[in-house]
Formats: sequence, C-alpha cells, structure tokens
Amino acid sequence: MALSFRKLLLGFIATALVACRAAPLTQTEVVDKAAQGLRLIETEPGVEPVWMTHAQKIDLLKANKNFFDVTETYEPPSADSTAKLSLARPRPNPGQAAPVNVTGYAAPSRQAAVNPLISKISLDSMQSFLTNLTSFHNRYFNSTTGVDASLWIKDTLTQITKANPQSSASVSLFPHAAFRQPSIIAKIPGRNPGGPLTILGAHMDSINLDDVEGRAPGADDDGSGSVNLMEAYRVLVSSGFQPETPVEFQWYAGEEEGLLGSQDIAKAYAKRGEKVKAMLMMDMTAFVKPGTKEVISLMPDFTNENLTTFVAQLIDTYSLLDSEINNPCGYACSDHASWDKYGFPTALPFEATYPDNANEIVHTDGDTVDIEGFSWTHTLEYTKIALAFAFELGSA
Ligand SMILES: *[C@@H]1O[C@H](CO)[C@@H](O)[C@H](O)[C@H]1NC(C)=O
Ligand SMILES: *[C@@H]1O[C@H](CO)[C@@H](O)[C@H](O)[C@H]1NC(C)=O
Ligand SMILES: *[C@@H]1O[C@H](CO)[C@@H](O)[C@H](O)[C@H]1NC(C)=O
Ligand SMILES: *[C@@H]1O[C@H](CO)[C@@H](O)[C@H](O)[C@H]1NC(C)=O
Repeated sequence: MALSFRKLLLGFIATALVACRAAPLTQTEVVDKAAQGLRLIETEPGVEPVWMTHAQKIDLLKANKNFFDVTETYEPPSADSTAKLSLARPRPNPGQAAPVNVTGYAAPSRQAAVNPLISKISLDSMQSFLTNLTSFHNRYFNSTTGVDASLWIKDTLTQITKANPQSSASVSLFPHAAFRQPSIIAKIPGRNPGGPLTILGAHMDSINLDDVEGRAPGADDDGSGSVNLMEAYRVLVSSGFQPETPVEFQWYAGEEEGLLGSQDIAKAYAKRGEKVKAMLMMDMTAFVKPGTKEVISLMPDFTNENLTTFVAQLIDTYSLLDSEINNPCGYACSDHASWDKYGFPTALPFEATYPDNANEIVHTDGDTVDIEGFSWTHTLEYTKIALAFAFELGSA
C-alpha cells in the first residue's frame, strides 16, 4: 500500500511543493520534462499535477502523502472534463465513480461449488509463495531484483497453468515504458468471451523508503495480497474452473511509486472500451495488531458502495471473520484508485481498522513474516474472499 505511517517529518515539503501548481500542460511539455527525468505528481483530485524529481517523490512518501504519478497517463483537461470535475466536486464522496454498465450484484449463491474449492486452499502453498517472494533483495519497481521477482511470479503461474492442460487460462507480462518491472495478467477466459471482466489485483513491488536500493522484503505490503491471488488462481485453475465471463488476476508493478502499473493497465482497458464488472484490490492482508479484534475492514473511499456491500456478503458467507467499514485511506492509497479514476467499480478489503490497527513496519527492511502480529490464519481468510469473488462474479 502506498501508505507511510511515519509521522509528518517532512510534511512541510509536501505543502510547499503542492502550493506551486503548474498550469495545464501540453503533451510536448510532458514528454520533454519526462525526458529530463522529472515526474508529474497529482496529490489531489481535479487539481493540476506538479513536476518533481524522484528524490522529491520519495520525500512525499516519507511525509505520508499519497499520489498518482501521472507522467505517462496525463491528459490535458478538456473543457468537458473540467465541467465534469466541477460537477463531481460537491458529491459527498468525490472518489466514488459511477459504475460502468453495472446494475447491481446478486447475493452470493454458489456455496455448493465454492466451499469445496475453499477447502483446497493450502497454507503450505501460500507460505512457499511468500518465502520465495520475500527472498528477493527487494521488489523495487525499477531494479533488477524487482524484475526478477516479477518474472518469478510469471513463471510460477505459468507452471500452475501448464500443469492443468484442461484449463484455457493464460499468463502474460504487461510491460511499462517508463520503468523496468513488468506487471502480470493471468486470464481465465469466459464461455462468453465478450462478457464484462472480473478483475482481482495486488501489487508485486516493495519499497524501502530509507534506501530504495535497500532490503525490502514486503511480506505484508504487498506480498500478502500477491500470495492471496496466486493461491486463489492455483486452486481455480487446478479445479478446471471455467467461468461464464472472463476473470483476470493482475499483479501490478510500481504501486509504491504512484500507482504506475495499475494506471497504465486501467487506462489501456478504458481506451479499448473493456467492460469491467468489478475490481477487487488486495493490499496488506496479514497483520492483526496484538490485543485487537480480528476483522476484515472494507475501505469506504474510491470504492463502489454496491460492490463493497457484495464483498461484505462474501465475507459473511465464506469467511470465519466479520467485516466492518474502514476509515477512509485517502487519495491514491492503493491500485483500486487507478480503476476508480477510469470509472470502474472497485472494492478493497484491508487487514485491519485503518490507520490505528494496521501494520506500521511497512516500507522498511522489517516488513517480514517474523514480526509480532503477522498472521497466516488471518491472510488465509483473504484467499477465501478472492476465490469466492472470482467464482461468484465469473459465474454470472
Ligand atoms: C447501486 O445499485 C443500484 C441498483 O442496484 C443503482 O441504482 C445505484 O446507482 C448503485 N450505486 C452505486 C454507487 O453504484
Ligand atoms: C522457492 O524457494 C525454494 C527455497 O529457496 C526453492 O527451493 C524453490 O525452487 C523456489 N520455487 C520456485 C518456484 O522458484
Ligand atoms: C527507471 O530507471 C531509469 C534509469 O535506470 C530512469 O531513466 C527512469 O527514469 C526510471 N523510471 C522512473 C519511472 O523513475
Ligand atoms: C455499456 O454497455 C453497452 C451495451 O452493451 C455498450 O454499448 C457500451 O459500450 C458499454 N459501455 C462501456 C463503457 O463499456
């Protein structure tokens, strides 16, 4: 998650930078500045982004300020979109985009098929995936080990797919022009190939904010969500699951650097007119603060209310835990925000009540499975939710 729980050491830098806003940019200016290594950073909805060096970006993260890095996705505001934005502003929840071609979600009804699959979820398998993921020095978005980790995920998913030749699933890289780590998309086609997509996402990258070249195991952030999706994919593909409408599992590169991978993908999908039924983000699912009640906490901002209600029903139906509605996590806190920005309905089940009970050791070399509070049984519940989400929505 693009969150930092450090206190506002450098908050003044954020304020100063945000204060000097640029005028609307032309595409030529964007290309020229990007070629000089500058990055275009948007910290608030509907406000023109500002240019920053990479070091300034890292300072923003250290100052607990989230953002979209829109260098590759920027579009100059048209008169039309300005009008839409000003109309959008008075809404009580400005992040809530209208759902695209969604009329509602039927309550979960496929327990007879889903429960036997849930019983095939293996904690050993999840532990083995996470051991391998955290063994890379870091999974930093523009480093060699970040690329290696991405290729390891792809190879592992490909092996799972090949071991089940009856499955028509396929795994591919989604490369990004501006940095080295590719995202990954594993697709299970639907009987109705043109049907709306069900998307499940997690971010593969990790970061150490003290030294971006340093050790960043990223066990909770977001090794946990990445593994929830890997294991849900493994169980579905090895059971021969063939959905009615397509289901995609996506592992995003560059989340910690301003939601880079997910923006590239969401923009590409919006441009080619993909219909998206639902997008579920899993980002940090393994931490239970000692002494607190274990819950699955649903993010209320930049998510879709109807989809969030549906996920609460999934939790009721398939998980041992109760759900609650979380506190807002703010602008651009994780990759769901990229999908929300392009008008797709999203939901984000989080590990705990934010921010009080969330894991504070993220973005350091200490984000490991060995900390007090890292809970395998807790993160297991999110694999159940991912599996049920893919099955229930893909079957409709
Ligand atoms: C929720 O679904 C209802 C219809 O089922 C629809 O009228 C409403 O616009 C939806 N709201 C959101 C925020 O998607
Ligand atoms: C995962 O790591 C273990 C231990 O280092 C290794 O033996 C195994 O081959 C790795 N698995 C994959 C799929 O790379
Ligand atoms: C990734 O690294 C290359 C140099 O290795 C640099 O030119 C590029 O700007 C970096 N990308 C981002 C998005 O910071
Ligand atoms: C919504 O559905 C209609 C009818 O199927 C289709 O024509 C339209 O392109 C869809 N819109 C989007 C944004 O997918």
